[in-house]
Amino acid sequence: MLIAGNWKMNTDRREAVSLVDDLKRLVGEEEDVQIAVCPPFVHLGELQPLLDGTSIALGAQNMHFEDEGAFTGEISASMLREVGCVFVILGHSERRQSFNETYVEINAKVKQALSYGLKPIVCVGEALAQRKAGQAEEIVRTQASCALEGVTLTSAADLVLAYEPIWAIGTGETATPEQAQSIHATLRQWLIDSFPEVGHSLQILYGGSMKPQNAADLLAQPDINGGLVGGASLKADDFAAIVEAGRRFV
Ligand code: PGA
Repeated sequence: MLIAGNWKMNTDRREAVSLVDDLKRLVGEEEDVQIAVCPPFVHLGELQPLLDGTSIALGAQNMHFEDEGAFTGEISASMLREVGCVFVILGHSERRQSFNETYVEINAKVKQALSYGLKPIVCVGEALAQRKAGQAEEIVRTQASCALEGVTLTSAADLVLAYEPIWAIGTGETATPEQAQSIHATLRQWLIDSFPEVGHSLQILYGGSMKPQNAADLLAQPDINGGLVGGASLKADDFAAIVEAGRRFV
């Protein structure tokens, strides 16, 4: 069970430090549920020493697929490693939609992250029109296979998949546990077929308006192995309550 917070483009320095202080107090010694926070890049270096020795891992929200060079505004895998990142979110739908990120680029990023020992949290998920047209399963399978094309996984801890239906992100509308489980089961089967050694045990997170009120019902589903939490990760009490909900299903 992994509960990861995606802070997106939120928090100033003072808020970031105070959120981490609160999280340390509430879940800093958690033993059963894995926890990660993914703050904006500029806070990573300052938060790393605060999280050192706690059970909260650090992650980033994006990275570039090249080692270094003339890529103005971009951040490399080695930079993320150096500031203590363990995870990196890749292919979030906000990046696909607002920054035209493609699955070819996401695939290159996944390979780059793995080669630097970062754990990618690879996001897939359909738009509302695609769901209404009955294409959700096909879309997420295609997205997953493009993102992970040519990828070799040696351990189930190498990579995390996240199902984030676009229509449920930041909208307050959550997929029902049954809707989510049905897509997670599709992804599970795809993982088993594609990575027979580790596919059974790779984590698949659900993301999209997860909050304390709905977390337990979602996390109770057999193929939902955690959450990628946006809005509710900015409130320490809510994030801790989601971790608490996850603990019941470890
Ligand atoms: P949300 O965001 O929880 O605010 O819907 C989830 C995400 O985009 O990762």
